[in-house]
Amino acid sequence: MVQVKRVVLAYSGGVDTSVCIPYLKKEYGVEEVITFAADLGQGDELEPIRKKALEAGASQSLVGDLIKPFIEDFAFPAIRANGLYEGRYPLSTALARPLIANHLVRVAKEFSADAVAHGCTGKGNDQVRFDVAIGSLAPDLKVLTPARQWGMSREETIAYGERFGIPAPVSKESPYSIDLNLLGRSVEAGLLENPMTPPPEDVFEMTSAIDQAPNEPEEILISFRAGNPIAIDGEKLDPVQIISKANNLAGKHGFGRIDIIENRVVGIKSREIYETPGLLLLIKAHQEIETLTLSADVLHMKSYLESKWAELVYQGLWYSPLKEALDGFFDRTQIDVNGDVKIRLHKGNAIIIGRNSSTNSLYMPSMATYGKEDEFQHPLAEGFIYIWGLPSRIWASVQRTIQNQ
Ligand code: ARG
Repeated sequence: MVQVKRVVLAYSGGVDTSVCIPYLKKEYGVEEVITFAADLGQGDELEPIRKKALEAGASQSLVGDLIKPFIEDFAFPAIRANGLYEGRYPLSTALARPLIANHLVRVAKEFSADAVAHGCTGKGNDQVRFDVAIGSLAPDLKVLTPARQWGMSREETIAYGERFGIPAPVSKESPYSIDLNLLGRSVEAGLLENPMTPPPEDVFEMTSAIDQAPNEPEEILISFRAGNPIAIDGEKLDPVQIISKANNLAGKHGFGRIDIIENRVVGIKSREIYETPGLLLLIKAHQEIETLTLSADVLHMKSYLESKWAELVYQGLWYSPLKEALDGFFDRTQIDVNGDVKIRLHKGNAIIIGRNSSTNSLYMPSMATYGKEDEFQHPLAEGFIYIWGLPSRIWASVQRTIQNQ
């Protein structure tokens, strides 16, 4: 048995993390469990969660308000990076884990704990994100992972908890496994495990069903400064406000639902339902303002690097040299990303209908126009095309020679 006197446990208030408290004490011989619950804007009441940890035997129960750093230091970089894992999932859960890990480590230092712990199972991505982040931030800190070792079924976990006064989840518990924060919700398990079963309406909370969404379209304007969204419809908002407002607008119109088969780090394909209305809307708008303000080659290189960035973040490598280096590249590109994007929200759609940058637009009307103001020198295209196509013509003629031999 590992000799641990004091441990800091990442705590959500759910059955698994609650059972971790007596389990760590009884089976791991830990003397003192300090719990840490993060407020990431999930809308849960944190005071009952704080009390619940004490009732389950925690010696101290801490709550940290992490909403601001979550949005400013994790969500906003993801918007600048157009971070979409496998082109579709905006990393709403993945982004929270390195931040929680960071605070677990801080609390462990503050309370001179000799280990941290989390309640992740052995088949998810979150364990990878926690373990790797903790290992990068505090290489010598032990990480205890009871739920990865205990081999108990859901029923057994609940029964174990009841022995230590942890109430079974109240009557009609959600049949789904849900993770949520201000960026969105991820929903798994239950009947969703059949990839062919459409998600029932009760899965969703942040987004309207199409038939419930307003019949009238709504046009909005999102403004960006240095790649960050700073205003909606001309109203300046701080990062947390802008995500909330984008959630409300997109959610109302039923935009932001995702139903995908996703490739987990541990090699499993899983069926995932997400609703991330605001984040998806802001990424979409951000991609659009970049098309106006970044040169073609920067845009193309960035899009290639973006998919790598999203993969790193998904796979738990937030604190890694490549991720940092990519941020450096993105940061330089974002200096030029200033302007406004006009979007029409309607019945599950967010349709881009306009974009403008008074300072950084690379769209040059005299080059683009087909009207009489056209200043493009058409005859010069001929010489350009002669040289541009030269390698192709040479290659094709060699191929013809080979085939005729
Ligand atoms: N598949 C998603 C991800 O890896 C969601 C994970 C949800 N986590 C949870 N503990 N329910 O980011």
